[in-house]
Amino acid sequence: MAQPLCTLREDGDALVVLDQTCLPGEVSYVRLATLEQAADAIRVMRVRGAPLIGATAAYGVALALQHGIDLARAIDQLTSTRPTAVNLRWALERMRRRLAALTGPQLVATAWQEARAIADADRAANQAIGRHGLDLLRAMPSLPIRLMTHCNAGWLATVAHGTALAPVYAAQAAGLDMQVWVSETRPRNQGLLTAWELAQAGIAHTLIADNAAGLLMMQGRVDLVIVGADRIAANGDTANKIGTYLKALAARAHGIPFYIAAPVSTIDFDCPDGSRIPIEERAAAELAAGAVPVANPAFDVTPAGLIAGIITEQGVIAADRLGTLRR
Ligand code: MRU
Repeated sequence: MAQPLCTLREDGDALVVLDQTCLPGEVSYVRLATLEQAADAIRVMRVRGAPLIGATAAYGVALALQHGIDLARAIDQLTSTRPTAVNLRWALERMRRRLAALTGPQLVATAWQEARAIADADRAANQAIGRHGLDLLRAMPSLPIRLMTHCNAGWLATVAHGTALAPVYAAQAAGLDMQVWVSETRPRNQGLLTAWELAQAGIAHTLIADNAAGLLMMQGRVDLVIVGADRIAANGDTANKIGTYLKALAARAHGIPFYIAAPVSTIDFDCPDGSRIPIEERAAAELAAGAVPVANPAFDVTPAGLIAGIITEQGVIAADRLGTLRR
């Protein structure tokens, strides 16, 4: 699929991003020229999705340095924007390693180069995820392939191609007939972003309430599930948008393969298991106005044992074999 729009692009000494808070109603781009603007865009989810958050943060460092802001301060400020997606910390650590010994104009120029390299690597990794995921889809016994996904892990959530949707786009290009179940993702409705993406691409899809997933699986109307990830622990336990775990449980109960699609940059090799993954708690107002007591965790953790495989740019890996990947 030729992706219709870009999620980010450089514009002189600024970064321009597609403002996802306006979608699906309006396509609008916003110019980020300062560290504060980049950090705010991540915090309020103008950009969202783990890989895109990481790339935007890398550019945020370049914006900070060109205004004379100290590298450590920039990294601290960007790190604090969202806690769960490890691509944020991964990208910032990569920036720190590359830039720590540099000064002056060389520092700023190298920061832009490194941010660009991170963005380019994400594009290439997701394209490879699409190819490996396509091999799985080709092995499905019948057409159309009825795939369920959750939240938005399409091109909107990455620099390009998407993760969970990359195999869907590759399948379309290969002429495989696909039908995608898209769950709405309470409370932020990122499923509407997925429906919008698939509509742009002309791929058959149906929006469902999150709680409809179990019924559809029980009725035999789902062939496989592919979702993205915000952080994968070293043992394969995987954090993704709240509601993912329930889908994995229902998929196991009905013998449906449940896959994660994510680049290696989403694996936190320093995090031994899912109990150590920080879970973002979001504002009560997203669920209820007024004085209702609210708990609003934005992510959950799916145990490795429920995952049929992790589709990475290096191939499809068993969740308990992540140690074999090249970092
Ligand atoms: O809160 P969000 O919308 O940033 O959460 C996004 C997800 O949970 C995605 O599934 C994940 O980041 C992978 S995006 C390729």
